Amino acid sequence: MNKDLKVLHHRSKERIKGLGEVFTPDLHVEKMMNLLGKKDAKVWSDLNISFFEPTCGHGNFVTQLFKQRVLALFKSELRDGTKAAALSAIANSINTLWAIDIDLQNVNECRSRILKFSLAFLCEKLKLSPTNLINEDVDFYAHLLCAIRWHIDENEALSALSNGDEAFQNASKTKFGRNWIQGNGHNHLDFDLSWTAYYKQCEIEGLTSLLYEDATKLLTSLTSGQRRQNSNFDFALKVLQDQNVSNYISNLVDIGA
Ligand SMILES: C[S@@+](CC[C@H](N)C(=O)[O-])C[C@H]1O[C@@H](n2cnc3c(N)ncnc32)[C@H](O)[C@@H]1O
Repeated sequence: MNKDLKVLHHRSKERIKGLGEVFTPDLHVEKMMNLLGKKDAKVWSDLNISFFEPTCGHGNFVTQLFKQRVLALFKSELRDGTKAAALSAIANSINTLWAIDIDLQNVNECRSRILKFSLAFLCEKLKLSPTNLINEDVDFYAHLLCAIRWHIDENEALSALSNGDEAFQNASKTKFGRNWIQGNGHNHLDFDLSWTAYYKQCEIEGLTSLLYEDATKLLTSLTSGQRRQNSNFDFALKVLQDQNVSNYISNLVDIGA
């Protein structure tokens, strides 16, 4: 039985019952991605299209959507040079991707997977180690951490898409949803307020984003060999402190190199 559970990509009977937690196997995700690409060849490079996963789990769909978009954008922007194309592909891909899940553990795993792919892709394209990559452009990577944190978030799907009184009613359609909204309140998802839009708004109003400050401090301390903690970025610490970072880079075979 345990083996079957593993094959189906979920964690326990309790979580299946409570959260409906059965992760879609890679093969099916791949088939669906192919269907999407077949229906509209420009789907990956058209930045007027954003993607939204309302129950993202640990990111089986999200990581594939992100990857397809990054590879397509990189290809279409190569005329601007490898570095500009690679950074812009990552930035635009995260800025047009939204994902939520009611379970923070799943959300953090999904965030880590997006960060891993981003670092692997950039190390490969720019021929740099993760530390050198970050040292060269702390500002870019601070934004990347914030954008991943912002766009992939803990939220309850039915209330996130509802307004006012309906939010509580809609969340309460499931026991987990009701518990979540009672504990966390209503967090309406505003697709117009991307990380970039939020950051620009702060600048216009002369405000400093604390999240961005925290991300910068975290990266600066890590690249100088210190161990700073920040719960906003637990998902990133796990990835950035991984001594075997080069292993997952070489494991990501299909990176479009
Ligand atoms: C069937 S899994 C699917 C995960 C992912 N989409 C996949 O295909 O691998 C369902 C996910 O929905 C999340 N979930 C359950 N109820 C939710 C709700 N009301 N709002 C947001 N997420 C919810 C669970 O935590 C779980 O990760």
